[in-house]
Amino acid sequence: MRLLLTGGAGYVGSACLRYLLENGHDPIAYDNLLEGNREAVPDAAKRLVEGDIADVDRLTDALKRHQAEAVMHFAALASVPDSIADPEAYYRVNVAGTKSVLDAMRAAGTLKILFSSTAATYGFHGEMPLRETSAQTPETPYGTTKLVAEWLIKDYARAYGMGYTLLRYFNASGADPSGEFGEDRRHESHLIPLVFQAALGRRPKVTIFGSDYPTRDGTCVRDYVHTTDLAQAHRLAVESLEPGMGRAYNLGSGTGATVLEVLRACEQAAGRPIPHDFAPRRPGDPGVLVASPDRIVGDLGWAPRYSDVETIVRTAWAWHQRRPHGYSE
Ligand code: UFG
Repeated sequence: MRLLLTGGAGYVGSACLRYLLENGHDPIAYDNLLEGNREAVPDAAKRLVEGDIADVDRLTDALKRHQAEAVMHFAALASVPDSIADPEAYYRVNVAGTKSVLDAMRAAGTLKILFSSTAATYGFHGEMPLRETSAQTPETPYGTTKLVAEWLIKDYARAYGMGYTLLRYFNASGADPSGEFGEDRRHESHLIPLVFQAALGRRPKVTIFGSDYPTRDGTCVRDYVHTTDLAQAHRLAVESLEPGMGRAYNLGSGTGATVLEVLRACEQAAGRPIPHDFAPRRPGDPGVLVASPDRIVGDLGWAPRYSDVETIVRTAWAWHQRRPHGYSE
């Protein structure tokens, strides 16, 4: 299929782009490179269009030129703490930006969209594991903006004959098994890259936020899912998507790990102790987030292969060790 990936030079978007290429598709990335990396896109001269999702005309033109059959909309801001500090940017990029993408799709006649949604659209105090039918009562601006984007997509799809699949990621993590591609953001706030930066001496230590949660060791439980498994899910979802269809799927392993368990697994992978300390809870952090991935496993035969914590941190460590300063090195 001919596909356009907004945010296709970013961490998850570029992993999907490479996976789609390897599996016979024809994807291009549309990315403003504020957080994305040119080096993450193979054959960037041909496959990367530099542009902002706010620029509807440029995006429409890119869709038409590539004759895109579907859009995978990854481009977004995705840090819970930043969204609390600066909600304006989150509403602009995640809500208004999604509207721009939908408007460009209408203008270009592209009728299928996959959307990178998040576990943060769910309420944090209900049933666990979370199912697609669990209450969507977000508790952070990040979660709210992603939920509003889901509503936009549903309303546009209904009115304008589009088909959509909402993919609600849990904790995207890990690196390409080749060791050549991985996580590299300008402003890092995610646990595993911060732990490995501490392991490599790029920061003095990693701080663990909260040790008094009602969990097995007092630290937060998260459901880590490998980017290669996310990519497989995107492939299955786009290949089965038709105009008029509307679906939502959780993308998580179904198993939770605590922050301390992740840290210990990272120490194991790195073969050394990693300096860390403890601080109070981070605002907006739920104690436990675990997915039930049963729906996508049953409907599409999704079969995650890399989403155990050991494999996630082993692949991430190989990447960070190889490129301690990320793509810029
Ligand atoms: N953590 C630390 N220290 C750090 C960074 C993170 O202890 O320096 C902890 C967090 O408190 C959390 C866990 O490590 O318990 C994972 O944190 P991340 O920042 O890596 O990821 P989040 O769980 O905050 O974010 C994920 C997804 C978001 C989603 C969010 C829902 O990346 O898309 O879960 O809360 F919105």
